[in-house]
Amino acid sequence: MSVAHRIRQFFRALRPAPTEAERIAVRAVLTPPQYALFARLAVADQRHAVEVYRRVLAGGVADREVLQAALLHDVGKAGSGLRLWQRVAAVLLDAWAPGFLARLKARGPWRRAFRVYVRHPERGARLARLAGSSERVVTLIAAHQNGAAGDPALALLRQADDA
Ligand SMILES: [Fe+2]
Ligand SMILES: [Fe+2]
Repeated sequence: MSVAHRIRQFFRALRPAPTEAERIAVRAVLTPPQYALFARLAVADQRHAVEVYRRVLAGGVADREVLQAALLHDVGKAGSGLRLWQRVAAVLLDAWAPGFLARLKARGPWRRAFRVYVRHPERGARLARLAGSSERVVTLIAAHQNGAAGDPALALLRQADDA
């Protein structure tokens, strides 16, 4: 992941919550337990999820499972109790000053921030499974950050996530 991508992530923290019309669209794609999961995301992460969903849809994919994965891909970040800027700052620090972060990692919030970031695909996949998502949705979420792009749906999801 590029530094430019990380900077864009930082500015995502400033974007507004989904509108009522967007929430209605999200509810039409997700099952009620999946929507409950989505609603646990920080509002900036909800905004990001809606934008990724839109890009996947614009990419010509109307497969409901892929759209569910687009909306839930970062759900592993939900309920971390950390502000988005703290998580993004941890990732930026790791890119620019790994030695500094290594020292900070010894301290509570920064260590948690970094761990939330590193583990969010795996945790998100587990939460999606608990919410009754299909194996396809679970697999897409688990692979969205680092998975091989052999699967065209996964490739599109990753492209939409990085845009
Ligand atoms: Fe992610
Ligand atoms: Fe994402």
